[in-house]
Amino acid sequence: MHIDVLSVIPQLLESPLSHSMMKRAQTKKLLYVSVHNLRDWAVNEYGQLDDYQYGGGAGMVMMCEPLEKAILDLGKSKIFDEIIYLTPDGETLNQNLANQLSLKQNLLLICGHYKGIDQRIRDHYITKEISIGDYVLSGGELAATVLIDAVGRLLPGVLNDETSALTDSFQDNLLAPPVYTRPAEYNGWRVPSVLLSGDLKKIDEWRYEESLKKTAERRPDLSDHIDH
Ligand code: ADE
Repeated sequence: MHIDVLSVIPQLLESPLSHSMMKRAQTKKLLYVSVHNLRDWAVNEYGQLDDYQYGGGAGMVMMCEPLEKAILDLGKSKIFDEIIYLTPDGETLNQNLANQLSLKQNLLLICGHYKGIDQRIRDHYITKEISIGDYVLSGGELAATVLIDAVGRLLPGVLNDETSALTDSFQDNLLAPPVYTRPAEYNGWRVPSVLLSGDLKKIDEWRYEESLKKTAERRPDLSDHIDH
């Protein structure tokens, strides 16, 4: 999968993409991420990218021209399956959406700043608008990083254990069950005995029951969508 990112602060994406799973995905050539500085398409020698909003009001708006030029330039070498604008008023990212995006070949992510981008770019180029939650960040970069991680770890071969993404929280609309490691007793706190029993069927059943219980307690909204 190729992910191109357009940003005014490309440095914000550097560290999260250079470690752990995202590093692995790129080293194994399962994921290619190219972060582009939008300022390379600025409208003038001062690097201008934004301007006052029509109708008045506080905050600058990112202009059409640099965004359009960048989208067209990057589109010369590939066809984007989706051009995604990260914005708090977009569709909320969830596991289902991450799963869907992980099946695509080429994504372009656009990180907004200030008051956002000119609506005409949203109308004419953006194919999906995604929020990572009901709060406002200073820009789209951290949201883009979250999206890249959520999608990148789903690409076949990125995770060590092929099945582990399937047992994550939210797959099947269930929260993950509790996990334990050695020692079997710590401070007098014991690991549930079923996990030490070696009976795989019983362990699976216990995990499923714990998942159901946790989901019902914490996320009753998800419980409505569980396939029993
Ligand atoms: N940009 C600013 N806030 C955001 C959010 N919550 N999700 C995605 N992009 C954003």
